[in-house]
Amino acid sequence: MMNMIILRKKMISKIINEFTTPFYLYDENVIEKKIQFLNNLDLNFSHKFYFAVKANPNLAILNTIKRHGFGAEVVSAGELFKALRSGFDPSNIIFDGPGKTEFDLKYAITQQIRSINIENLDEIDFINDYSISKGLVTNIGIRINPNIDGYTMEKITTGKTGGKFGLSLDQINFESFSKFKGVNLTTLSEHIGSQIIDHHQLIKSYKELISLADNLKKNNILIETLDFGGGFGVLDHSDKKMNFSEWEKDLNDALKKKSYKIIFEPGRFIVADSCELISKILYIKKSGDKNIIITDCSLSEYLRPALYNIEPPIEVSSNSKKQITYDIAGGICESTDYLLKDVTIPEVKKGEYIKFLNVGAYGSSMSSTYNSRPRPLEIMMNKNEYRVIRSRDTLEDLCKNEIM
Ligand code: LLP
Repeated sequence: MMNMIILRKKMISKIINEFTTPFYLYDENVIEKKIQFLNNLDLNFSHKFYFAVKANPNLAILNTIKRHGFGAEVVSAGELFKALRSGFDPSNIIFDGPGKTEFDLKYAITQQIRSINIENLDEIDFINDYSISKGLVTNIGIRINPNIDGYTMEKITTGKTGGKFGLSLDQINFESFSKFKGVNLTTLSEHIGSQIIDHHQLIKSYKELISLADNLKKNNILIETLDFGGGFGVLDHSDKKMNFSEWEKDLNDALKKKSYKIIFEPGRFIVADSCELISKILYIKKSGDKNIIITDCSLSEYLRPALYNIEPPIEVSSNSKKQITYDIAGGICESTDYLLKDVTIPEVKKGEYIKFLNVGAYGSSMSSTYNSRPRPLEIMMNKNEYRVIRSRDTLEDLCKNEIM
């Protein structure tokens, strides 16, 4: 075990010396362990996990996840394209999202994916008409808004009335579905938010869906699949973990004697802990009583601290005994471009490294080229091997599609 840790450390130092910062460094093994954890849960009902591609759409990462038997949950034509490119079979892809364009829908319909989960009633007419025009029948689901709080950050809660997600029950006339010959209603879905620690809220939302499907059955409307969404929280900016053993027990109880096929759509849980964003200290300056570190990583490479005020865990390479309180900022010309404020760490020097940990979910996927910064390199290691899985944007890439 000790040897493994030392080897891993050595490998990371080698990679840090070989490549120019900033870059995302993934450990495939961590992703595999998270997948194994979910696959080893003791769930007594038919189920399948669909990775939420939005958490990390890198082709190599998608391919790793696909090879371990997961499906993919996508929310745009772009994600669908990447899921297909990375090897997912269309029958293992589901399409969610509150704002699907006609282009998204046409693409999803012609690929004959497992299910398109609608969140607007108008989607049905379009899916129906287009499917009939192509001689197809498309499987659809309806995303229900259960009005249940995920007790997570306000900005990533999605299951409450008044929000833009899903449809509330009083808006849906289930009897009317049989008139659509181009669609087949197979699924009820929901997703009440992300980074959820309180499993009771998840279970409560699952139970809503189960009882809705049970009631529909009484009226001869048969639902085959219940899609419970994602949202499993990780140790991130909170010090609490989701209690999977209670979640598993409560869920087995709720589904006793039921024969629904169950879908989960975890994103963050699979990839969050697998990645460190490696950055270098460009400058250290004083401003009033503040000590400010300026790194070569900014909100363009990691938006979550600026957007959600989260405090990412970090590691520094310094082993100075002297502790100093710093603000850590990026080089973007925006006063919100801080990665951490008032963090006390060993004294650091220009040229040393800062690693931002747990950046695998919604890190690279929410990065941008703001301030015309090339998007960074992405590297994946696994035990004693590593490879580039996305090359750094070139300056030419920044001009791509522009005409002078
Ligand atoms: N299914 C649906 C319908 C979703 O909208 C999402 C995430 C997921 C599954 C996956 O959720 P997860 O297991 O990753 O929690 N950018 C935010 C997170 C936004 C999540 C959006 N929807 C962040 O960085 O915290």
